Amino acid sequence: MAMAPGYAVQEIEPGQCLQLRRDVLWPQLELAQCRLQGDEQARHFGICVEGVVVSCLSLFEMGDGIYQLRKFATHAGFRNQGLGSALLAHAIAHVQAAGARGMVLNARLSALPFYRRHGFVRHGRAWRKSGVDFVEMRLQAR
Ligand SMILES: CC(C)(COP(=O)(O)OP(=O)(O)OC[C@H]1O[C@@H](n2cnc3c(N)ncnc32)[C@H](O)[C@@H]1OP(=O)(O)O)[C@@H](O)C(=O)NCCC(=O)NCCS
Repeated sequence: MAMAPGYAVQEIEPGQCLQLRRDVLWPQLELAQCRLQGDEQARHFGICVEGVVVSCLSLFEMGDGIYQLRKFATHAGFRNQGLGSALLAHAIAHVQAAGARGMVLNARLSALPFYRRHGFVRHGRAWRKSGVDFVEMRLQAR
């Protein structure tokens, strides 16, 4: 499904991901606690509305041609408009252009159909962390 017109994916700084990470993924944490080890080396992409990041994700290079997608979130008021799909498509194109072998991510079980629609395949058993069920998913980039 196409993203609503007027939005554009852009590369953003790691610090610009913190508010959305906190609000969507870690509401119990302080902003500073939402920084990840490796954030400075990772690539971050987002969609902004009036200067505010409303959807973002981060790509960490794991070596051996594999990238890990982490901390993917769309602000609750902007979901189901195609923003996340546009960001994910951008991330996939980015790693393909970089010559990557593949992408991995730990998906919230609730987001499994979303990732499946984008070509990711479930790998292994689900596990629970802090009351949330996760499953590893992989995408072959070439
Ligand atoms: C997962 C997440 C990032 C997706 O972001 P999003 O911006 O809502 O993504 P999209 O709008 O592209 O797609 C979401 C759904 O809306 C549908 N959709 C896309 N464009 C649409 C449109 N124009 N009109 C109506 N529905 C649309 C998609 O088909 C998709 O359905 P699905 O979830 O059944 O696959 C978002 O739901 C989120 O932040 N969830 C909470 C945190 C989370 O689970 N993060 C992922 C951790 S692994």
